[in-house]
Amino acid sequence: MKIAVLGTGMVGRAVALGLAHLGLDVVVGTRDPAASLARTGAEDFGTWAAMNSEVGVATYAEAARDAALVVNALHGAASVSGIRAAEIADGTVLLDIANPLDLSGDVPRLLVGNDDSLGEQIQREFPALRVVKSLNTMTAAAMVEPHLIADGDFTTFVSGNDDAAKAQVMSLLGSLGHQDVIDVGDITTARGTEALMLLWIRLMGPLGSPYFTWKIAR
Ligand SMILES: NC(=O)c1ccc[n+]([C@@H]2O[C@H](COP(=O)([O-])OP(=O)(O)OC[C@H]3O[C@@H](n4cnc5c(N)ncnc54)[C@H](OP(=O)(O)O)[C@@H]3O)[C@@H](O)[C@H]2O)c1
Repeated sequence: MKIAVLGTGMVGRAVALGLAHLGLDVVVGTRDPAASLARTGAEDFGTWAAMNSEVGVATYAEAARDAALVVNALHGAASVSGIRAAEIADGTVLLDIANPLDLSGDVPRLLVGNDDSLGEQIQREFPALRVVKSLNTMTAAAMVEPHLIADGDFTTFVSGNDDAAKAQVMSLLGSLGHQDVIDVGDITTARGTEALMLLWIRLMGPLGSPYFTWKIAR
């Protein structure tokens, strides 16, 4: 099964490798493959791609072609334009990990929130895609290695309008080791999970680490 991961940031790299380690055929989509591969500092994409040669690199549209699942690991403000450029086939499940964060000021803010969310904007913009929001409430490494936080004893949220698409994503989450996955409801529930990140970012200061996330005690 081919999976496209859009974006070459921390999330794109971590998720691509994690899915490849499950034995899936993974291609990372990037605006400019040559420029991305030329990023060769220790933490840069080119070095990562050379080290992890089992993961392909292509443009957004080449990556998404014939993919059974597309992962949105793009910058929040660049998500709609990037997904449009990917020309994803109708009916495809889009696992949306992006958060609509604006970190340009002293205090983080959401680019969209309260009565809308990035997940909803994407679903409205691409009604033929089956958008499932998940994994956006934890740091990149824990998305594919949940044992890194409290031995995996935390909650992972899923939002989306299509039950079959959510079931497909929840199955993948289970394969990655996510133990407590809550289907919160339709895509409007992404308003809540995206807004959690305003607190998550502020908690990084006092906790001094990104290795924490939410656990729903019940
Ligand atoms: N970092 C985390 O631990 C974390 C945790 C939870 C959720 N998230 C969310 O996951 C998404 C990815 O986060 P990230 O930290 O991996 O990376 P990021 O800095 O948000 O950027 C991700 C990618 O977006 C692409 N992009 C396309 N157009 C862009 C533009 N105009 N400006 C900036 N980037 C653009 C770039 O990929 P190409 O250049 O390859 O096209 C870039 O590598 C974000 O929405 C973030 O809010 C992140």
